[in-house]
Amino acid sequence: MKKIILGVAVAAATLFAADGAAIYAKCGSCHGKDGKNTAISGVALSGDAASIEKKLNGYKDGSFGGAKKGMMAPQVASLSADDVKAVSEYIAGLK
Ligand code: HEC
Repeated sequence: MKKIILGVAVAAATLFAADGAAIYAKCGSCHGKDGKNTAISGVALSGDAASIEKKLNGYKDGSFGGAKKGMMAPQVASLSADDVKAVSEYIAGLK
């Protein structure tokens, strides 16, 4: 019985854990699947997870951004801290 409860708990945790790839699905339209499309943003996504996370949080609180930051702010507004971390790690791993 204990094993079953543990299994359900693990499955639920996996289900609700922030999924960087799923979050990035809505970013790809502007940044490209690989993060290197610069047509809209003017910048290729690069850097390590920590620096990307810092930029995304900056868009959220208005402390980071260039001329087009108004396009980015709504993209991250509804992301939780866990979501931001997960998508940052995903982007850092893009090749
Ligand atoms: C509607 C188009 C659009 C979508 C969708 C979008 N972005 Fe952006 N993104 C931009 C633009 C435009 C900029 C440049 C903004 C500026 O001037 O600071 C940018 C900049 C960025 C930067 C900073 C790059 C740098 O090094 O300066 C990151 C990181 C980023 N976006 C990540 C994301 C993530 C993650 C998502 C999805 C949650 C996302 N973007 C969705 C348009 C978009």
